[in-house]
Amino acid sequence: MSSESQEATKILLLENIHAVASDTFNAAGKPRDIATFPGSPSEEQLVEMLRGVKILGIRSKTNITEGVLRAAPDLVAVGCFCIGTDQVDLEAARRHGVAVFNAPFSNTRSVAELALAEIIMLARKAAQRSMELHRGKWEKSAKGCVEVRRKTLGVVGYGHIGPQIGLLAEALGMKVVFHDIVKKLALGNARQTVDLDELLKEADFVTMHVPDTPLTRKMIGAEQFALMKPGSFLLNLSRGAVVDIPALRDALESGQIAGAALDVYPQEPASGKDPFESEVRGFENVILTPHIGGSTEEAQYNIGIEVAESLSYFFDEGTSIGCVNLPEAQLPVSGDSVRIINIHKDMPGVLSRINGLIASLHVNIKAQTYHTRDGVGYLIMDAEKGLSRDIGAEIEALDSNIRTRLLF
Ligand code: NAI
Repeated sequence: MSSESQEATKILLLENIHAVASDTFNAAGKPRDIATFPGSPSEEQLVEMLRGVKILGIRSKTNITEGVLRAAPDLVAVGCFCIGTDQVDLEAARRHGVAVFNAPFSNTRSVAELALAEIIMLARKAAQRSMELHRGKWEKSAKGCVEVRRKTLGVVGYGHIGPQIGLLAEALGMKVVFHDIVKKLALGNARQTVDLDELLKEADFVTMHVPDTPLTRKMIGAEQFALMKPGSFLLNLSRGAVVDIPALRDALESGQIAGAALDVYPQEPASGKDPFESEVRGFENVILTPHIGGSTEEAQYNIGIEVAESLSYFFDEGTSIGCVNLPEAQLPVSGDSVRIINIHKDMPGVLSRINGLIASLHVNIKAQTYHTRDGVGYLIMDAEKGLSRDIGAEIEALDSNIRTRLLF
């Protein structure tokens, strides 16, 4: 059991996490002891470095395995200062009561801006003209080049990124229609279509912004290309599996599709050392970018703030909103109370046993919130200030206990 009110919290930030993360931790007004390390240590090194560390920040290269978690009993939370969390054994982290956070939405604007730029580049064949000039060919022609004003943009997936592209496109005078599996509030003058087919038939540009799910895999294939307007364009800056690449190649070869912009691929090279292979390599009317839609300085900065804030709220107040492996819960800080955080195995009677322990001390419970997920329960409880801090050890002794912390 740990009592988080006294000592400076040891924080370790690996892999050159943006400096704004340290500033954000310090801005929370609690004592912090922050160490940074530029690279990604070996598992052995990491275990050594994690002694006494309560908060660990990583990017995509450091693997947090069951072995690391077992060897780091002080660790309370891991922040992935990136989008993905595949590098962390989330299930093991849940069993060890270690909360994992990431920054899924810090780069939405960056993606929207690139998509918008590519819409204009495609409409003007600008990437093609650039490649020709690099080869010494001066092709000054207006043939097939159009303004985007008054053209229709079809946005597939109207979550965080989709509406931003819609609004930016409207500023350029485009008409926006969108399709989403869920009924969505349309921003600006956008209109939700009845289904995907309606969007495909109407749009001059179709831009994909859906997640990778069984329903979205190859959701744009031969049938969908056939429905699209002849001479229209496709953009995919979402996930590689969403577009059937051989079908795209066929649609490009037949001229049904006038061009495409791809940022994501079904198979992406693991690193810059591996070659990039794709059936659409060599098409000059296809803009290819190496999964850089969200890769901007601003996105890195925003990620630094977003993850450090999530970790601080979790560590200092127990707020688990945005946590990827524990139940999400939040309780407003009322002051003048002792806050108990308990992560436990979800089994009958846990709450009543914890409440019973508090009641037996004749102490009032002022507020509590409780959620369960995937076999784990998460409790935030505020009890009257006079509560003995020995209560932590008593809760910890329950067979349901995974981790107990006493805050303020
Ligand atoms: P989001 O989760 O906020 O929105 C996705 C939307 O798609 C939701 O509104 C959802 O209801 C909708 N959707 C899900 N299944 C659907 C289906 N079968 N048909 C129609 N709509 C469906 O996601 P966000 O943040 O807007 O990201 C969109 C995509 O962009 C994700 O795949 C994400 O991984 C990717 N992405 C790519 C980046 C890059 O570097 N190229 C950077 C950031 C995100």
